[in-house]
Amino acid sequence: MKKIKIESFLEVFESVDALPETISALMETAFEAREKAYAPYSNFYVGAALLLNNGETISGNNQENAAYPSGLCAERTAIYYASAKYPHAKMVAMAITARAKEKVTTTPIPPCGSCRQAIAEYEIKQKSPIPLYFMGERGEVMKSDSLENLLPFLFTADYL
Ligand code: THU
Repeated sequence: MKKIKIESFLEVFESVDALPETISALMETAFEAREKAYAPYSNFYVGAALLLNNGETISGNNQENAAYPSGLCAERTAIYYASAKYPHAKMVAMAITARAKEKVTTTPIPPCGSCRQAIAEYEIKQKSPIPLYFMGERGEVMKSDSLENLLPFLFTADYL
C-alpha cells in the first residue's frame, strides 16, 4: 500500500481593491450579474463573469426553478453561454461573487463540485488553465490558478 498526498495552493487578496485592474473590473461585472440572479427559493445570489481572449466578457447568474434540480449555478450559466457564443475563444479568467439575502457573506464562496467539473472541461479543451477569483459579498478574494487546485484527481475524457 502506498499513500498519495494531494496539495493545493490558493492566493488570498484582502479585498477587490487589491486585485489587478482587469480582474477587479471583471469582479464588478460579476457583482452586476449577481444582482440579476433569479434565486427566489434559496435567496442566495451568485454572479460569475468570464473574460475571453477575444476581449469579450460573458456573465451569468444562478437560475432557479420550482423543480429545484432543474436550476443552474451562475458559473455554468456563464461558461456554457461563453462556449455557445464564442466556441473558439479561450477563457482567460473567471470572477465569482455570492450574496445571501439574510446575512452578509464576507468569506470567499467557492464554486460547487459540479461547476468545478464543468470549468475543468474547458481548461482541458483549451489546453490552458482558467484562473478563478471568488469572493462573498465583500471581503477577501481567493484566487485559484487552475481548476487542478480545486478539483484534484479529476475525471476526464482520458478515462473513457
Ligand atoms: N450556486 C451557484 O450559483 N454556484 C455555486 O457554485 C454554488 C451554488 C447557486 C445554486 C442555487 O441557486 C443557490 O446558489 C443555492 O445553492
